[in-house]
Parts: sequence; structure tokens; C-alpha cells
Amino acid sequence: LRILVLHGPNLNLLGVREPSIYGALTLEQINAALETHAAGLHSTIQCQQFNSEGAIVEAIHNALDEKDGILINAGAYTHTSVAIRDALSGVKLPIVEVHLSNIYQREAFRHYSYIAPIAVGQISGFGIDSYLLGLEALVRHLQREGG
Ligand code: DQA
Repeated sequence: LRILVLHGPNLNLLGVREPSIYGALTLEQINAALETHAAGLHSTIQCQQFNSEGAIVEAIHNALDEKDGILINAGAYTHTSVAIRDALSGVKLPIVEVHLSNIYQREAFRHYSYIAPIAVGQISGFGIDSYLLGLEALVRHLQREGG
């Protein structure tokens, strides 16, 4: 199966950015762990990170005929972006939403996700394991659906 892994704004700063909240791992380390996990799940991943909303929307459009599912941490756009939500609905691919931190434990403005209502599911609060568990959940979902 072919999975697009999308990282949103500021996630390029992982390792430097608020390590007490987001952990010490860099984005490269997370992507490397995802690559290894994907191979074990007989899947291939493409990892992309964008700081701008429009670039994320375009990457979602490009997944239309190329991918079987999308694993996304939209960062702060999770809580603000109707455009990203509409793009994800538009391509009709199964979506799994992940967050390093537990967004429900944090400020009220992080409690609402525009993506959650159109995702297969959400994993939040497990650091890098949110990504690894999310990838596995997405692949298992696709296998069940015969994708
Ligand atoms: C985040 C949580 C968001 O609220 C925040 O804006 C991020 C990262 C997470 O992975 O915990 O940028 O998506």
C-alpha cells in the first residue's frame, strides 16, 4: 500500500521546538522510524512537510491517483483550516490524524480538530508512537477495506 505522510507547519523544528511537549526527536528521525515500520507492514511511504496551508492542500490533491491513504499531522492547521479539511474530503482517501502531544490536555483552542470528523480515526498524545500506531491503523484499515 502507498501512504502519504504529511507534516504541517513548524514540525520541521522538531527536536528544537518545545521538547518538553513534542519530544527530542527530529522530523528526520520520525520519518526514518516510519520508513522502517512501513516496510514491516509491506507498505511504502512518502513523507512531506510544509509550513504553508496551500502547499499542504496541493500535496493532498497530488495524492488523488497516487496513494491509498494519508497519515497527517496538520499541526496548528488542525484547529483552523477548512481548506485542508475540504481537500482531505475531496480526494476521498482514508485519512488518519495524528498528534505528538495530547491536544485535549492542552489549551482549549487545540481541542477542536477540523480533520477529526472526516478521518477514520485520530491518535494523540503518544509522541512518535502516535505516528507509528497511526500508520499501522491506516494500513490495517486499508487491508480490511480491501484497498
Ligand atoms: C500538534 C498539536 C498542535 O496543536 C500544534 O499546533 C502542533 C503540533 C502535535 O503534534 O501535537 O503544531 O499537531
